[in-house]
Amino acid sequence: GALATAVADLLRGCAELAVAGALRDRIERTRAADRTLTGIASRQAAAAALGAGLSALVCGVTVAGAAVVGVQAVADGRLAGVALAVVVLTPLAAFEAVTGLPLAVQYRQRVRHSAERVFEVLDAPVPVHEPARPETPPASPFPVELTGLSARHAGQEREALAGFRLTLEAGRRVAVVGASGSGKTTLAQVLLRFLDVESGMYRLGGVPAWELDGDAVRRFVGLCAQDAHLFDSSVRENLRLARTGASDEELREALRRARLLDWVDGLPQGLDTLVGEHGSRLSGGQRQRLALARALLADFPVLVLDEPAEHLDLATADALTDDLLRATEGRTTVLITHRLHGLDAVDEVLVLDGGRTVQRGPYAELAEAEGPLRRMLEQERETDLLAVGGGAAAALGTDREPRVS
Ligand SMILES: Nc1ncnc2c1ncn2[C@@H]1O[C@H](COP(=O)(O)OP(=O)(O)O)[C@@H](O)[C@H]1O
Ligand SMILES: [Mg+2]
Repeated sequence: GALATAVADLLRGCAELAVAGALRDRIERTRAADRTLTGIASRQAAAAALGAGLSALVCGVTVAGAAVVGVQAVADGRLAGVALAVVVLTPLAAFEAVTGLPLAVQYRQRVRHSAERVFEVLDAPVPVHEPARPETPPASPFPVELTGLSARHAGQEREALAGFRLTLEAGRRVAVVGASGSGKTTLAQVLLRFLDVESGMYRLGGVPAWELDGDAVRRFVGLCAQDAHLFDSSVRENLRLARTGASDEELREALRRARLLDWVDGLPQGLDTLVGEHGSRLSGGQRQRLALARALLADFPVLVLDEPAEHLDLATADALTDDLLRATEGRTTVLITHRLHGLDAVDEVLVLDGGRTVQRGPYAELAEAEGPLRRMLEQERETDLLAVGGGAAAALGTDREPRVS
């Protein structure tokens, strides 16, 4: 396992390692792992050979001994000549039963190690407890109610989210903002039942979410994650994950709303274009737009977007945010972001800090008042001014930002 990891790391990170001058060191480490594995293999082979050799030797000696005793018995007339064959061959047959033992010892060791790993997984604390007898899901998830809600990650002292309150009626859009580590992703995990609530209430259409099957919750609440996974397949297949059997018309409509249709139409292979491993043939902006199109196609009653513009340069990020706010108009949406661009379009903005809601209200109001959001806004203006490249990228077109961004 260690060697496989080292080799995969070496291959995947080859460019970075070469640039950082760390390639030699990594190759040496990989070689060391290889030497360790070779050592283990040759020790195992030696043990197996010794075991096999010894049992062959003992078997041979026994057969020879039996032959000597048998021949003497025949010579003395105590044994019939024909029965001599039985005396000689019986030990041979008996040893066949034990020749597998050295191998069995080796397998036993290996299996014990494997079992340890399996038990590690089985004994790991469950992040989410599924109900033994799930409730029937309500016809509609609305209102989605979170009251006095706290959540904590396994092994953490501090609550990642505390005293959180939010009500979502159909069509309501809220933005959750806050610095890195303020608990935004934790909220998304709670909403999707990837993490248990420690205290407080989470209800969907009046039914506590933890009385529902996790999958039932996730049919109501969908996620477009910060690093949504793209499969090494075509644009079409990546979209169809969200709705198997969607027609090309539906796929195109989703792409249009994610503002990706013109790009797809411009490709010689259109929807059949392959996106590469992890979407490596797309730009960062295109990847996120494809993920957004997938989430739109799935048509979740409640859509949670966790920093969809996270890894993009500022101009591309802002263009994507504008488009996704347009695409989610009239849909119940929780937009998680640490940038404030475009948030005047949502109904309410919540500011998180260290897991607590420190400010909430309509964007215009919060931007006016002295407080956390105003400070974030001022900070953002400063960084935007520093990011001189942003304007140039915008001028080049949003889908063409350099991959290094
Ligand atoms: N899987 C995890 N295990 C332990 N602690 C975690 C885990 N995920 C997040 N945390 C902690 O919870 C807090 C909130 O994290 P997160 O919700 O990811 O913040 P944000 O999305 O706002 O950056 C942080 O202090 C973080 O260290
Ligand atoms: Mg996060």
